[in-house]
Amino acid sequence: MCGIVGFVGREEAAPILLDGLARLEYRGYDSAGVAVLDGQKLRVAKAKGRLRVLADMIQNGRAIHGTVGIGHTRWATHGAPSDVNAHPQVSRSGKIAVVHNGIIENYAQLKEFLMARGVDFASETDTEVVAQLIEHFYQGNLLDAVAKVLHRIEGAYSLGIVCADEPDQLIAVRKDSPLILGVGDGFSFLASDVTAIIKHTRDVMYMDDGEIAVLTCDGIQVYDSFLQPVEKTIARVDWEIDAAEKGGYEHFMLKEIMEQPDALRKAIFPRIRDGEVVLEDFGLTDEYIRQIEKIFIVACGSSYHVGMVGKYNLEQMLRIPVDVVLASEFRYMDPIVTEHTLVIVISQSGETLDTMAALRAAKGLGATILSIVNVVGSSIARESDTVLYTWAGPEIAVATTKAYSTQLAVLDLLGLYFARKLGTLPEERYQTVIQSLLLLPSQMEQVLECQANIQYLASQYFNHDSIFFIGRNLDYALGLEGSLKLKEISYIHSEAYASGELKHGTISLIEDGTLVVAVATYNRLFDKAMSNVVEVKSRGADVLALTTEDKAADMEKYANGIITIPETDEMLRPSLGVAPLQLLAYYIALMRGCDIDKPRNLAKSVTVE
Ligand code: M6R
Repeated sequence: MCGIVGFVGREEAAPILLDGLARLEYRGYDSAGVAVLDGQKLRVAKAKGRLRVLADMIQNGRAIHGTVGIGHTRWATHGAPSDVNAHPQVSRSGKIAVVHNGIIENYAQLKEFLMARGVDFASETDTEVVAQLIEHFYQGNLLDAVAKVLHRIEGAYSLGIVCADEPDQLIAVRKDSPLILGVGDGFSFLASDVTAIIKHTRDVMYMDDGEIAVLTCDGIQVYDSFLQPVEKTIARVDWEIDAAEKGGYEHFMLKEIMEQPDALRKAIFPRIRDGEVVLEDFGLTDEYIRQIEKIFIVACGSSYHVGMVGKYNLEQMLRIPVDVVLASEFRYMDPIVTEHTLVIVISQSGETLDTMAALRAAKGLGATILSIVNVVGSSIARESDTVLYTWAGPEIAVATTKAYSTQLAVLDLLGLYFARKLGTLPEERYQTVIQSLLLLPSQMEQVLECQANIQYLASQYFNHDSIFFIGRNLDYALGLEGSLKLKEISYIHSEAYASGELKHGTISLIEDGTLVVAVATYNRLFDKAMSNVVEVKSRGADVLALTTEDKAADMEKYANGIITIPETDEMLRPSLGVAPLQLLAYYIALMRGCDIDKPRNLAKSVTVE
């Protein structure tokens, strides 16, 4: 939520900031702003609406001069989207400007404190409190003033700060909110994520919580919260700029759907050697694995849906009880955790606040944390006992696609790895799943060839007001993801139900023309799936069925439309079945004229509670 970027160098800052913001816009897009130091004064421009409005206002940056600056693209929390609530927020003298991602929880008390001392506030934001408080403590040294403020503010924040009286530097601060530093020759950057700066440098530093950094043209110095210097290592980002560009596709979402075969190759192939799963640098010992008594999978949104599939597969492979819990619930539960409890945390961004909080709660109770994360160096990855990266490359569209499929593949690999250590899966089945995993990328390519069929089906159903997804077992878990994908980008009301629950209430919603997507890839329960299809059909529903190729002929007798996936091990069917559902959501949203990559009210990385 919210993207921040900062630049100090020898070139004009405003165009560089705008370019960085364009790459961060997926994080929030209701207003945007920049503040640039021209050596003497602070120039601020901000505007409600998409970044384009700001860019037009300042002639793509040409209207504002100066080589040091900060920028922000907002997902509103405190105060509605408006010019005045847009960041940067500026202190009353107009000398200090702040961009912020996160929430200052005690902002109301601090605001009262400042107002009692005669400070007027222009905006409703929590961020303005930070700018005013820095000014309150400022006595000619920005770093000192910022350090004082950090000891008074509570919450989650990454901040970029500039001061007109110290025009050669930027200050960056991080606590529980993502922030990286870019190291260049004659320039330095701060940014919410690598995509904003990869064009300029691949050398980055990952800030830790509580750290403050001073950025100048000549380099970056990081301090702890007591202003003691901290030595940081420089990491090299190994993906190409094209990975974060549309590359000829109309939307990032479609590009990322189409990237899934390659993403799966990268996630799976290096981890299978000579018919066996190999997890390099894995932090769990065989002895620990043998003592696991209970597994929790904790995540939000689509990552939670991966966990739902994971529960079925891990329990089948390991015979260890697995509970899947929403991170936002886990953190307020009283979970029964012992030293023999493994908590698997799943997160694309590695920054989701609820997931992070759940991780810390579980760790506090003595659990071991294994995370499955896409963004290298993210907070969740760094705070886990061990991490398995999905290596899917940058995912820009708000609706996740390739992260879901790679998370699923990594979870299956983990299941196999554990199963081998525990001896819980017969060798023959182990080999079948291994071979099926190796085939997944090319089968995914085959599935994606159904694009035209899906486009046609979308044209039949795009104007429905309500769409249900039904399925049992793994198909139910997959239906949840199909339904989320559809509703988040097309704004069609949609719900997923375990088919067996239909008769317990939901079936009353079925009427003439209601679209029901019947997920029926789990062949063991195919007959039951068919019965449910017949039931909803006889109450007037239109049925679109997702099934395996060998069951298509049976399903065709009843369904109005059919999508098939090739044969694979039953545990891996959600990995193939998800692609047509992603495409269906995409084409329906496209036909409804929705803003696919930036759906309303959403942001890619949810760093507030
Ligand atoms: O980065 P995370 O995997 O932790 O994000 C979790 C959810 O916010 C995310 O999956 C969200 O539900 C997506 N928009 C779904 O497409």
